[in-house]
Amino acid sequence: MQQPVLQICDHPLVQHKVALLRDASTSTRDFRALSSELAGVLAYEATRDLELEDVTVTTPIKDTIGRKVTGKKVGVVPILRAGVGMLDGVLAMIPVARVGFLGMYRDEDTLQPVSYYEKLPKDLGDRLMLIIDPMLATGGSASYAAQVCKDRGAHTVKLLSLIAAPEGVERMHSDHPDVAIHIAALDECLNEKGFIVPGLGDAGDRLWGTR
Ligand code: PRP
Repeated sequence: MQQPVLQICDHPLVQHKVALLRDASTSTRDFRALSSELAGVLAYEATRDLELEDVTVTTPIKDTIGRKVTGKKVGVVPILRAGVGMLDGVLAMIPVARVGFLGMYRDEDTLQPVSYYEKLPKDLGDRLMLIIDPMLATGGSASYAAQVCKDRGAHTVKLLSLIAAPEGVERMHSDHPDVAIHIAALDECLNEKGFIVPGLGDAGDRLWGTR
């Protein structure tokens, strides 16, 4: 049986940025920039296994062999709203990626995801699909998003989150053991309201300046 993948990026610069992201005094503007920067690093890690092919490149000096990405194309799926805060960073790393959107919010009482919008590219079966959402809390939203991608034909799905709770990782590993998870930090637990502890608060509100 396939072992579920959880990769926590322990690079010093990532840990430094996570500390700034957690800080309640970090401004909306800096929070956005940090989310985007961290997302780029996670995208870099999550695409490490893309296939390459040799190509001839003519430099100003002579012909040489270069290597270019071949095979799977990439699709990126931010979960609205907070996932949008990671989109620029991922696209900076993979500019040709197609982008789909899944709109959902978490019901405050039941903590279940409520879907309100879906717009995905057509050819998901040919793509590495990267679901992006800064927070993996109970895992309900990410699990739902992975299922939607699979129902639309995706064979390879990965999840990129900035902060995760063990409960969310467990839920994803149970529901979707084939979906590799790439995160910048694994936190302690969820509190009684379903917020990640210590976490960073409500990522959507901090990104977009709402309350
Ligand atoms: C947050 C977060 C995730 C979800 C995580 O979204 O951005 O999408 O909750 O929780 P889960 O793992 O328990 O499903 P929220 O409901 O705050 O919506 P928003 O992004 O529109 O603010």
